[in-house]
Amino acid sequence: MPRTVFLSTGFYVPDRVVTNDELTRWWQTSDEWIRERTGIRERRWVRPGEQAGSDLALEATRIALERGGIQPSDLDCIVYATLSPDYFFPGGGVFLQRKLGVPGIPALDVRNQCTGFLYGLSVADAWIRSGQYRRVLLVGSEVHSTGIDFGPAGRDLGVLFGDGAGVAILGATDDPGRGVLSTHLFADGRHAELLWCESDASARFPRISHEDLDAGRHYPKMQGREVFKSAVAAMLESVRTALAANGLAPADVNLLIAHQANLRINEMVQRQLGLRDDQVYNNIDRYGNTTAATIPIAIDECVASGRLKRGDLLVLTAFGSGFTWGSAVVRW
Ligand code: ACO
Repeated sequence: MPRTVFLSTGFYVPDRVVTNDELTRWWQTSDEWIRERTGIRERRWVRPGEQAGSDLALEATRIALERGGIQPSDLDCIVYATLSPDYFFPGGGVFLQRKLGVPGIPALDVRNQCTGFLYGLSVADAWIRSGQYRRVLLVGSEVHSTGIDFGPAGRDLGVLFGDGAGVAILGATDDPGRGVLSTHLFADGRHAELLWCESDASARFPRISHEDLDAGRHYPKMQGREVFKSAVAAMLESVRTALAANGLAPADVNLLIAHQANLRINEMVQRQLGLRDDQVYNNIDRYGNTTAATIPIAIDECVASGRLKRGDLLVLTAFGSGFTWGSAVVRW
């Protein structure tokens, strides 16, 4: 059975940099509060109406295609992870497919928030190993900034999120020494309302009302402290599960890339796993939380800077709304 390898990666973020200081235009907050509580210094936001998530994904895909010497027509399938699709329906995958000019190939939309890239990786890996598809474009792309509450109630969530896209082009190899070694996925819907967006929603009638708008139900809501504690425990557990399943220990890890929701979460995970600073990568200071795009952006930065090299043991983990969480182990 073949293994799944990362043939090429790419990422794209909008050129509009929004610093913490700039956020004080809208909210009672400060650079100091945001940096100390989250590790974020700046994030990228689209200019509203100028770029959708599928546009960011297109730019990231173009970079990955060019770097890998791959043509759009070489792609067998698109797996598109986002919590902020361009429209309620259809999902973002078909818009990216149209922009890439590859009609006909399947486009699967994955809705697992910050864990979306790992859920997508697991599906793509199974397809590649089974021989169903040989070349899968795996995308994480988000535009959060058009869904932010700029009123006082939006301050806790508004400072956290950034826009961006990251992609990986996955392929098959017969080399037993490389590739995706495992994926582990988890979910617990009992906590769905701790981080969610209530409206508009087909579960409600009407799907959105004036009252919903007045109450701000169309903005995401989060119980930050509960989510924080759960994120630490779940990412820790999923990394330990992944390492044990492969007969590995933390000392074997060359690079851990954890979802970037809060630097303090990742520092706790690092400490409890006993990992050195050179075994982990964080870039939340520059991008904030880009949800499904976070992991592929970080992977691409690590490839470009030489932090991730052929033969390295890469561990990925994420946690997000749902709750959903998971991990993957890759011999790069
Ligand atoms: N600026 C200044 N003060 C603020 C801000 C802000 N932006 N936001 C909140 N505060 C205030 C609060 O009002 C509160 O004030 P009070 O003590 O007078 O009531 C105080 O700061 C502390 O608020 P907490 O919410 O308790 O702050 P905490 O230290 O927990 O940090 C944070 C909040 C950063 C949101 C944190 O809880 C967190 O990171 N949670 C987890 C995020 C996460 O992992 N998300 C999952 C992935 S996202 C996804 O799946 C889409």
